[in-house]
Amino acid sequence: MVKFNLTPTDSEAPLHERLAQAINVLIDAGQFKAGDRLPPHRVIAQQAGVAIGTVTKAIDYLSDRGIVRGEVGRGTFVNAKRSSSPSTGEVDLSLSVPPLYVDEDMFVAAAERSARNVLKIPSGGLYDLKGTFSQRSVMAEWLTKTRVDIDADDLVLCVGAQQAIHMAFSDVKKVSTLIACEAPTFSGAIVAANHLGLELLPVDHDEEGMTPDALDKALAETGCRAVYTVPVCQNPLGFEVGETRRRQILEVCLRHDACIIEDDIYSVHAAKGRLTYKELAPQQVYFLTSLSKCLTPLARVGVMAPPRDRMSSVTKILRAEAFGAPPTALEFGSSLIELGADVIAASALRKEAHARTEMAAKVLKLPSVPMPHGAPHLWLPMSAVDAERLTRRALEQGVRVTPPEATALKGRRASGVRLCILAPEHRDDLQRGLTIIAMLLNDTSAATIV
Ligand SMILES: Cc1ncc(COP(=O)(O)O)c(C=O)c1O
Repeated sequence: MVKFNLTPTDSEAPLHERLAQAINVLIDAGQFKAGDRLPPHRVIAQQAGVAIGTVTKAIDYLSDRGIVRGEVGRGTFVNAKRSSSPSTGEVDLSLSVPPLYVDEDMFVAAAERSARNVLKIPSGGLYDLKGTFSQRSVMAEWLTKTRVDIDADDLVLCVGAQQAIHMAFSDVKKVSTLIACEAPTFSGAIVAANHLGLELLPVDHDEEGMTPDALDKALAETGCRAVYTVPVCQNPLGFEVGETRRRQILEVCLRHDACIIEDDIYSVHAAKGRLTYKELAPQQVYFLTSLSKCLTPLARVGVMAPPRDRMSSVTKILRAEAFGAPPTALEFGSSLIELGADVIAASALRKEAHARTEMAAKVLKLPSVPMPHGAPHLWLPMSAVDAERLTRRALEQGVRVTPPEATALKGRRASGVRLCILAPEHRDDLQRGLTIIAMLLNDTSAATIV
């Protein structure tokens, strides 16, 4: 029988923290291994001589720290160990990488399963550029469950959302060399546009995204016929576009016969419902997403659903760029989803983003944040000079933030700094980084949020 030693290591600590420490000691000692299910709360309560409520709080405490995870209807499981303690080195808030919430056992199981499946794909997968029907079916089911009803036949699988953006931009280039977008915008979209000789047209926004009037004016004045947008947790601004605004934007696009490239990559954090532009106007929208922000970028699996009449053109672009995404990667991503890793990761990510958003708002004393229920990044608006100075001074103090030039559009003066709050593995590291940023913001000679 497992023995929970509740001898206080710190007599000041509340009972649930002492119980959490006792459970953690057993995990460290190998009594419970990664993937093991902990005994039911009732059993732990009996053995530790505490109330069930104390066990629930102790498990929440461990779950908040990524040590265990609850799975609905199945119990509490021990997570694979990551590096055991917060680091004392540089805190990197510059890259939008979510923590990995797939434990080692599940990763290995997905790899094994995908290795077996990939061997059954005929002709090296060269006949099925867009991904095999079975891989596309897994992705279509995943999208239908989480976001938008899509058929496997309407999907192209590719190398991350980045390739999807590049393919969509290449396709719209045939009708428009200008692409309207929020400003600032995702650095990868800027790189893709530059590479293709396209110009990104900045459109003014408010706290809920591009304003319909500004978009209307931009499209009318320039003849631009394509819009790139990140409607959930815009990168880097962090806002979410609600249903009414989506309908208004779409109405403007339809009036100008402009297509929409809908980058839905952060939708795991969506709080304003599941309505997408794709659902509203399937024939007008290139919908794209990937597993990078909701599961893991290690798979590099991207998904695009172009307007149906653009499918053959998009497939030709894919053929010009590659003979499709690696079948091994597509099979691995599909296997992760089939094993339910997406569900586990999504719930853990939402919870973590919520906790970290609250932490950031508190430490930085922000009066409000665009997505209070949780977002992977936060934007601190400030002048370009202040943003550059803050970036430099933060780095001197060991905190790396996304510099303003990464997301800035040519000729735009509005600037700021992006903080990827999900990037540090440990919350304690984030706290350390945020405290340094807060200190620099307090020093008005460093930067002032506008
Ligand atoms: C808005 C947005 N779109 C697309 C991408 C590219 O994602 P992927 O890793 O799937 O290529 C990113 C990556 O940061 C992003 O932030």
